[in-house]
Amino acid sequence: MANQIPEEFIEEIRKSNDIVDIIGEYVQLKKQGRNYFGLCPFHGEKTPSFSVTQEKQIFHCFGCGKGGNVITFMMEMESFSFYEAVKFLADKSGFTLPDTGIKKESSMSEESQSVLSANDWLTKLYHHLIRYTKDGKEGYQYLKDRGIGDEAIDAFQLGFAPNVKDFVAEFLTKKGFHQQLLIKAGILSQQNDNAVTDRFRGRVIFPIRNHIGKTVAFGGRSITNQEPKYLNSPESELFHKGKLLYNFDLAKKHIRKENEVILFEGYMDVISAYQAGVKNVVATLGTSLTEPQAKLLNRYVETVIICYDGDMAGLDATYKAANLLKKVGCSIKVANLDNDMDPDSFIQKNGPEAFKDKVIKASDTYMSFYMRYLKKDFNLNVEGDRIKYIEYVLKELAMIESSIEREYYLKELSNEYHISIETMTSEIHEYRKKRGIPKDNQQKNRYTNKHTISQRSKKLLPAFYNAEKKLISYMLQDSYITDKVQEELGAGFNVDAHKIIATHLYGFYEEGHSSDISLFIERLNDDQLKQQVVEMAMIPELGNISDREINDYIRIIKNESNDSMNIKTLKEQQKLAEQQNDPLKAAQIAMQIIEIQKHLRNTN
Ligand code: UTP
Ligand code: MN
Repeated sequence: MANQIPEEFIEEIRKSNDIVDIIGEYVQLKKQGRNYFGLCPFHGEKTPSFSVTQEKQIFHCFGCGKGGNVITFMMEMESFSFYEAVKFLADKSGFTLPDTGIKKESSMSEESQSVLSANDWLTKLYHHLIRYTKDGKEGYQYLKDRGIGDEAIDAFQLGFAPNVKDFVAEFLTKKGFHQQLLIKAGILSQQNDNAVTDRFRGRVIFPIRNHIGKTVAFGGRSITNQEPKYLNSPESELFHKGKLLYNFDLAKKHIRKENEVILFEGYMDVISAYQAGVKNVVATLGTSLTEPQAKLLNRYVETVIICYDGDMAGLDATYKAANLLKKVGCSIKVANLDNDMDPDSFIQKNGPEAFKDKVIKASDTYMSFYMRYLKKDFNLNVEGDRIKYIEYVLKELAMIESSIEREYYLKELSNEYHISIETMTSEIHEYRKKRGIPKDNQQKNRYTNKHTISQRSKKLLPAFYNAEKKLISYMLQDSYITDKVQEELGAGFNVDAHKIIATHLYGFYEEGHSSDISLFIERLNDDQLKQQVVEMAMIPELGNISDREINDYIRIIKNESNDSMNIKTLKEQQKLAEQQNDPLKAAQIAMQIIEIQKHLRNTN
């Protein structure tokens, strides 16, 4: 399929989508020297070993070995087919894919594609109704009463499903969607008497978009007191509550800019905050935060501000979410709302500025939250309880790396409960010793100046192998060097993969291309080869390479092939001598082999 889209077009797409921008939407990248580094999105890691070069328009992970160009990145990241990746990037940069007439290969089932298309129509229909028609008036009034204005209604594509039996059924079947499909997608529902009706009726509609902005489900808020309060689309291939965060697509760029995300429990919290000008906001969908969601956030930000309801259930959920987020490597802050408040009601009551200053900016550290949260289990007027409470707090404090930070809380405890700081400090040291935590090791930033690349355990590789890699890394960047190597070495590389890559590279330059690694890997069909090329392309350049150096590499490579050739022939002769019962000759040959091997070892 790859070849069906004109190559010039693919080039155009690649050129208009800078790899640093595209990957930057998924990974928090920091520039270091010529490259960008971040945490690899393809495997779990705590120190960044994932690197992107703008110059070469490729990425490579030193940890798991994945690498490629902007198109391969999208394929890996979104499980896109080649076609889908190109289409996605084309859309992003305002190009229209030429109609190739080919069947559009997709990684999604046909059914899911149809549901997406139905959802798209439906989002527009519901939205149109609420904004411009009599049929949507009730919904519009409901949102108005809750303080939601037109701008937010448009941004979130909010809508209204009229309380009519078959409004949607008729609209979508007329458009050619099958009833069974719509029932399965939870757009229509089938009653006991087999009658088919609209599932969302008389509800305000919240389209639930996935992280690339496609509506994958709906949440419908009852505007009377009808149960359930929110009716949601069923789980499907497209919609997994536990993997998706509401508003992630719109929040993404704000999240990266602020290096912080605010996590809510409800749709309305997100929308209210957005209206208040706080846009780095997402919400779970009525279920506890899951590990995939936590990991998703961790890929984008360092700090998550948890801003759940102020009631007991909200506190419990906060505690759980906080620990999960910490586990995956996020820093946590916790907003502190009054008992009877949720973020939306706080904003409606106190206004945007109060929300920003008194809730978001005034968020607690995890430790302060924990100290507050723990109190619910103890009656602090009773001495026994008080002591237990303090023990719990000290245990948690012992986990904090920074001694300055620990001291801060110790002072607080000491003031409040009149226990000496020394006593508590020695208790903490005991806990730390028991847990095997070394004494006060300095906390390291996730991006320390000197990052350690977690190299896959590398065997010591022979010199010829390294020479071949080095040479190819230069060839990838320079057609003159390639010419010279082609002339002197041809396909004389010893490692098969290198031989193939070199041969492709000769062809690539012969076609008149200049060095373009991203384009070059586009043309290799084998994923493994692509990854090897990327790895070699990532070898840092050593400045201008001299002819002498190139000649050295070529010599090492040739020697290896001569030596291996000789060993091979000698081994055959040795075998023959043994067969001919000529032990003396066999022994002499064995000596020769050892000599060559010794020579090989010395030059390697
Ligand atoms: P809440 O009950 O806190 O709702 O549920 P809310 O966000 O404050 O909504 P309003 O302000 O009353 O309109 C939090 C989230 O749980 C899910 C929804 O995603 C909701 O936003 N939920 C809640 C449901 O899916 N179904 C329900 O019946 C209730
Ligand atoms: Mn609410």
